[in-house]
This record gives sequence, C-alpha cells and structure tokens, in this order.
Amino acid sequence: MTEAHPSARSVAVGGDRPYAITIGPGLLDDGALLAAPVRGNAAMIVSDRNVAPLYAQRVADALRAARPGLHVHTHVLPAGEAAKTLAHFTEVVNALADARLRRDATLFALGGGVIGDLAGFAAACWMRGIDCVQLPTTLLAMVDSSVGGKTAVDLPQGKNLVGAFHPPRAVIADTGALRTLPARELRAGLAEVVKYGALGDAAFLDWLDDNADALLAMDDAALAEAIARSCAHKAAIVERDPFEHGERALLNLGHTFGHAIETEQGYDGLNHGEAVAVGMVLAARLSEALGFAKTEDGDRLRALLQRFGLPVALPPGLDPGRLVAHMRLDKKAQAGGLRFVVWDGIGRARVLADVPESAVIEVLRAG
Ligand SMILES: NC(=O)c1ccc[n+]([C@@H]2O[C@H](COP(=O)([O-])OP(=O)(O)OC[C@H]3O[C@@H](n4cnc5c(N)ncnc54)[C@H](O)[C@@H]3O)[C@@H](O)[C@H]2O)c1
Repeated sequence: MTEAHPSARSVAVGGDRPYAITIGPGLLDDGALLAAPVRGNAAMIVSDRNVAPLYAQRVADALRAARPGLHVHTHVLPAGEAAKTLAHFTEVVNALADARLRRDATLFALGGGVIGDLAGFAAACWMRGIDCVQLPTTLLAMVDSSVGGKTAVDLPQGKNLVGAFHPPRAVIADTGALRTLPARELRAGLAEVVKYGALGDAAFLDWLDDNADALLAMDDAALAEAIARSCAHKAAIVERDPFEHGERALLNLGHTFGHAIETEQGYDGLNHGEAVAVGMVLAARLSEALGFAKTEDGDRLRALLQRFGLPVALPPGLDPGRLVAHMRLDKKAQAGGLRFVVWDGIGRARVLADVPESAVIEVLRAG
C-alpha cells in the first residue's frame, strides 16, 4: 500500500539486502514511491524502443516532481532478446559514464525481462555496483525476472552466460502497464504464473482455474493477486537460496526442455514463456515416465496452460536428438548427465540428476 495508491500490494523480499515489491495500477506515476529508493541526485532510466515512448517520460516527470533537482537521464535500447548483448551492455555503461553518474546514482530498468537483465547487469558493474530499481512492464518480468537479483546478457554461445547477482533496491510493478502489452506476451507471463502453482501451491492452481477469465481480461485486482502470490513464492525461495546452490533451481521447472526448444528454433519460434509452457508439460510427462507422478496431474497442468492460450506440445519438425544435444550444453546441466526439475505431483517438485537420455528422447518423441 502507498499513500497515493491505497489498493497497491506489497511483498517483502528478505535476505542480506532486503527490498519491497510494490504492485498495483498507476504506480509509474507515483513520484514519491519511485523516488523513495533514490539516494543521490542523479538517475538513469534504461528502457527499450517499445516501452520508452509509452512510459519513460511519465516516470521521468513523476521523479522530477517528487524530487526537484534530481537529474534524470534516459537511455533507450532496441527491443527484444537480440538486444541482450555485451555490445548493448557496453552502450549502457558508456551512457552512464557520459552522464557522469557516480556511486550514489540510481538506475531504473523500465521494461520487460530483457531490459531488467541487461540494465540490472550494467547497474551491477558500474562503479562496482549502483542501485537498481526494477520497473517491470511485462507480466513475465513482474512475476519472475525483476525479483531475485539475477542479471545477465547473452553470448552467441548461449543465453545468460555473462552476468551477476545484483538484488534491486526496489521493484515497482504497475499493472496498468500490462494494458499495452501484446496478448501473446501476457500469455507468456501466465506460463510463469502457472509454474508457481505447479511447483509448490496446489491451491494457487485452483485459484488460477477460477480466475482465468478475469486474468485474460486484465482485471487489475486479479492480476495484482496473481503477481503478489507469484512474487511471494519466488521471494521465499530466493531468500533461502539466493545464489541457486539448491532449492532455487526448482524455479527452472520446464526450463531444460524450454531452453532447448528456444535454442533449436534460433529464438525465432516460441517465446520464452511459451517454450516453458511446453517444457512444463514435457517435464510432467517425464515425471510420469519415470514413475514419480500421476497422469491426472500432468493433464490438469496441461488443461490450465491451454486455457491460457499457451502451447502444450512440441512444435512440429523439432528433432529429439538435437534437442537433447542442446540440453547437454545448457549451463543448468552439470557434469555427469542431464538434470531436470521433476515432480511427484502438483506442488511437489525436486531436482533429479543423471536422467537417462533414452527416457528424455521417449518423452520428446511422444511430444
Ligand atoms: N533474471 C531472471 O531471473 C530472469 C527470469 C526469467 C526470465 N528472464 C529473462 O527475461 C527475458 C524475457 O523477458 P520478457 O518476456 O519480459 O521479454 P522482453 O523484455 O523482450 O519483452 C517482450 C516484448 O514486449 C515489449 N514490451 C514490454 N513491456 C511492454 C508494455 N508494457 N507494453 C508494450 N510492449 C511492451 C518489449 O519491448 C518486447 O518487445 C529473457 O531474456 C529471459 O532470459 C530473466
């Protein structure tokens, strides 16, 4: 809750560097909320070419109104995963240097997960780390990438290979920004929301079933509830395992399959959330094949994803052998064999190492 937005929700993330996630409509105009984490007298908004024309000026105006004298710079990057490169990272740190931003400056990452990851990484590196406030504008970024402090850019050799853990100073999620989000991107975010239910909270899956229509119609209250519950789930895991030495890996449910699909399609087919949706169904099927989970649980997950308009089967033409080859190279795979998040049914996931390739190929063939 904030003074200007009494309906806003708040989720606390604990650990060594605690911060708050504030969720609600209209927050990008809430200058007091935006300026609260700012320590020095300079800030830079980093955004992309789709998001900046919609929201960057509003954020800058709100910040200046709340903190007269604050120098607010803006840097705009191309949109999309293809921009998450070391070259654009260099562009951002050069912009920070040109603007002479110092250690007490604040970087605002205004956009989806691509901007959050790239700008967050620039904040982690500039002057060995300046404050970053995440202003996620996609559902995926609101429920996943803006929370937990993982930042990165991609290399030609693979996704997210260069990065740092750099928790934000604050996360401010304006659900109103989702109104301009393409429908396909909203659905991609819903895949990650479903993931939290599949991972640890069967009651949340029931709630999603009951509220699917409201979510698809972008009802503010339903969206805020889904985002707050998802963030609370992620926050609890990240607090216990900030550097992904154990439990945090569960958040990758569906991702081993999903990343392989994205890589094989050259990031030009299913988007991340869609690939994760297919990946979760395949992970459920793998769990069944290995004798851990019941078919009904996989069917239930599949039906809910389908209700959100997400793909639930492998796109045609993908070769199982090539997908497994990508999985071997995935940085989440460890020496010694393929590693998957499997489940013993809804709400009970675990990491399984050394999964036999033959079982994975079988699931992909049935795909
Ligand atoms: N750091 C983490 O923990 C973590 C977790 C999950 C995913 N990720 C990363 O997140 C990225 C995917 O994020 P994404 O799905 O948000 O993609 P994205 O940032 O590319 O955004 C998707 C598209 O929507 C546009 N957009 C964003 N907000 C908009 C709005 N409000 N209105 C209109 N258009 C808007 C963007 O310009 C882009 O074209 C991947 O790079 C992935 O690796 C990181």
